[in-house]
Amino acid sequence: MSAPRTISFDIFRYDPQDPNDKPKMVTYEITEAPGMTVFIALNLLREQQDPSLQFDFVCRAGICGSCAMVINGKPTLACRTLTANFPDGKIKLMPLPGFELIGDLSVNTGKFMRELAERLQLWLQPDSNDIDIHRLENPMDPAEAAKLYELERCVECGVCVSACATKQMKDTFVGAVGMMKIARFEMDSRDTRTAEDFYHVIGNQDGVFGCMTLLGCQDACPKDLPHMQQIAYLRRKMAQTIVSC
Ligand code: SF4
Ligand code: FES
Repeated sequence: MSAPRTISFDIFRYDPQDPNDKPKMVTYEITEAPGMTVFIALNLLREQQDPSLQFDFVCRAGICGSCAMVINGKPTLACRTLTANFPDGKIKLMPLPGFELIGDLSVNTGKFMRELAERLQLWLQPDSNDIDIHRLENPMDPAEAAKLYELERCVECGVCVSACATKQMKDTFVGAVGMMKIARFEMDSRDTRTAEDFYHVIGNQDGVFGCMTLLGCQDACPKDLPHMQQIAYLRRKMAQTIVSC
């Protein structure tokens, strides 16, 4: 059996709260273990070499979306990335672009997602006359439920935002995650908003007509969500809305 190899991590370090700090890359080395992920390596680095290293995680299983970062140029989840994927043993880690930097590899995706939800009103808006708190269940057509469930798999990691060149050039662009969530409510038969209501929110260059179809969102999404299918669906809906006005 060959001896375990040494992995070298080149990690972005910067504390925006410290006026004396400057952005820099710091190199660390660690011995690789079988099945090691970038997330596991980062925890070992923090435990054994540098307790000040900042990065986020909660679930370690690709469910919470917290550990997203740019790994060798690609935005993705650290807990789903094996160090064995990098044959030369050199791994460069950067924070996700397009989000407020908290420090080192930690960015404020929560703030971004909350502002997006408020801007696009990403919550169910049912008919208030139809609410009966004594009704135990609101049955839903299984085919509709399956479609909504597919889009509910988003873990709000922010990877599609960082992978989108349009979003990086235009801060006001709602991005794939915003459009996919709009598609989710547009398809929900309980939501009373019409296609025209949604048109006022995303029927413009900040929404469906601003997407340049570069496919970065779909290529990078760790949950394999069908971004382009949803954006095309919304584009057709919005175009029909213009024609029927
Ligand atoms: S759509 Fe995919 S890449 Fe974008 S935030 Fe959701 S899970 Fe992450
Ligand atoms: S730690 Fe939750 S997705 Fe990686």
